[in-house]
Amino acid sequence: MKRIAIFASGSGSNAEKICEHFAGRTDVAVSLILTNNPQAGVIIRAMKYQVPVVVFNKKLFAETGKILEILQNERIDLIVLAGFMMLVPAELVRSYPDKMINIHPALLPKYGGKGMYGDFVHEAVVQAGETESGITIHYVNEHYDEGAVIFQASCEVLPTDTPADVATKIHVLEHQHYPRIVDELISGQL
Ligand code: GAR
Repeated sequence: MKRIAIFASGSGSNAEKICEHFAGRTDVAVSLILTNNPQAGVIIRAMKYQVPVVVFNKKLFAETGKILEILQNERIDLIVLAGFMMLVPAELVRSYPDKMINIHPALLPKYGGKGMYGDFVHEAVVQAGETESGITIHYVNEHYDEGAVIFQASCEVLPTDTPADVATKIHVLEHQHYPRIVDELISGQL
């Protein structure tokens, strides 16, 4: 059995889609969800799939040792960041070489980096008058949004689209592709 840990900070719709994708599978399971936000919607979503949740604070995350211990005790094979809004400490990144991935709501390298997350990305895309945006699934390294790209998909941005419209289109793409890419990676097909 391969085991996935998901890190999420907010609503958790991507985390839920991944849980749903693997529900009932005997070869892969979502074993743990970790969040830095005690109010995160992802906590309720995790309960629906009976996935245990670990809530941690900034200090605990920065010290890394405890989180690493939890991940190792759970024998985690792949770490999936799904709407996780903190930089992962270098030591944790180094402990999971090519075993930690992220989804970003834009076509990296555009609209990436510190401060570019969630709705800020869609606001910047609309502000710049872009005619397309998209999603990027990539390996995590020690810098925001800079790891090697695994997959990208794009969508049209219309002149009349608001940031909320773009967010909706991006979520559709994310839900369509992220669970599948996670599956292909953990099953060794990618
Ligand atoms: C997603 O669009 C994800 O790409 C983005 O946050 C949203 C979380 O939605 N992540 C980042 O911006 C990370 N830099 P969700 O909580 O509904 O899955």
